[in-house]
Amino acid sequence: MLTMINHLRNRDYMSGVERDRSRVKATGEVFTPTPLVQEMLDELPPEVFTDPAKTFLEPSCGDGQFLSEVVIRKMENGSTYEQALSTVYGIDLMEDNCLECIKRLYMCASEDITPLNQEEAKLLVPDYYWAQGLLKLFYVTTPHYTGITNIVCGDGLIYDYSFGTYTEPVKTPEQLVKEVKQLKAELKKMEIALKKSDAALKKSERERLKLIKAQEKVKKEFEQQRIKLELEMAAEEKRRLKAESKKKNVVHKWIDEVNDLFGFK
Ligand SMILES: C[S@@+](CC[C@H](N)C(=O)[O-])C[C@H]1O[C@@H](n2cnc3c(N)ncnc32)[C@H](O)[C@@H]1O
Repeated sequence: MLTMINHLRNRDYMSGVERDRSRVKATGEVFTPTPLVQEMLDELPPEVFTDPAKTFLEPSCGDGQFLSEVVIRKMENGSTYEQALSTVYGIDLMEDNCLECIKRLYMCASEDITPLNQEEAKLLVPDYYWAQGLLKLFYVTTPHYTGITNIVCGDGLIYDYSFGTYTEPVKTPEQLVKEVKQLKAELKKMEIALKKSDAALKKSERERLKLIKAQEKVKKEFEQQRIKLELEMAAEEKRRLKAESKKKNVVHKWIDEVNDLFGFK
């Protein structure tokens, strides 16, 4: 218990985190010193610490100056550490403050904590519903593998303070009727769009077939022209050969006559 108290209470002021002036100006990060926290808690009636079911909320918890003292006091008054931890709730705008607060309350190190964005949180902590004003949830691997829902990063001015218990608001019959009407209208629009695209598809199919036909016609005409040309070329060649042999015959005949005339044979 003493080691626990030491871990919860004795920390460097502001957890030793360096914050620049403009940030401090914007977020008002000046944490309450431990003696002052203790003095303030002394003002509360003792039963708030003796009743293990009493809960505490710190809407701008910083590094957990108040929450850790509450946990200590609850343990000193008979609550187990787990009981005490489950009754404290905190939210802070700054992620590093939340991390410090979680390290402190959950007795773990920075590397044991993973900040989760909305999508990751939905996957890893499925019973957590994304609440208004929430920026980040955290997941710890030590001492247990679990999503933390009592210390969250978010804007305390708009957070719905559901701490993991947020459920979608129940819809009125009027809202449901309106939604069904909207859905039907959207469905109708989609049907019309589908019909249009179907018609366009059919038209383009018809055009494709037309083009194929035209292409076939051109191919056929080309083939006919080619055959005609080949036949003409063959006829021309025949004519040429015939004329050539006719020429040769005339020359031979003339040579024969000359031979006859001069008696060369
Ligand atoms: C004056 S400090 C107090 C911290 C702690 N309550 C304490 O007493 O040690 C103010 C804290 O509120 C946080 N804060 C500022 N604006 C906030 C907001 N809109 N929602 C939640 N936390 C906010 C800051 O990050 C800072 O940790």
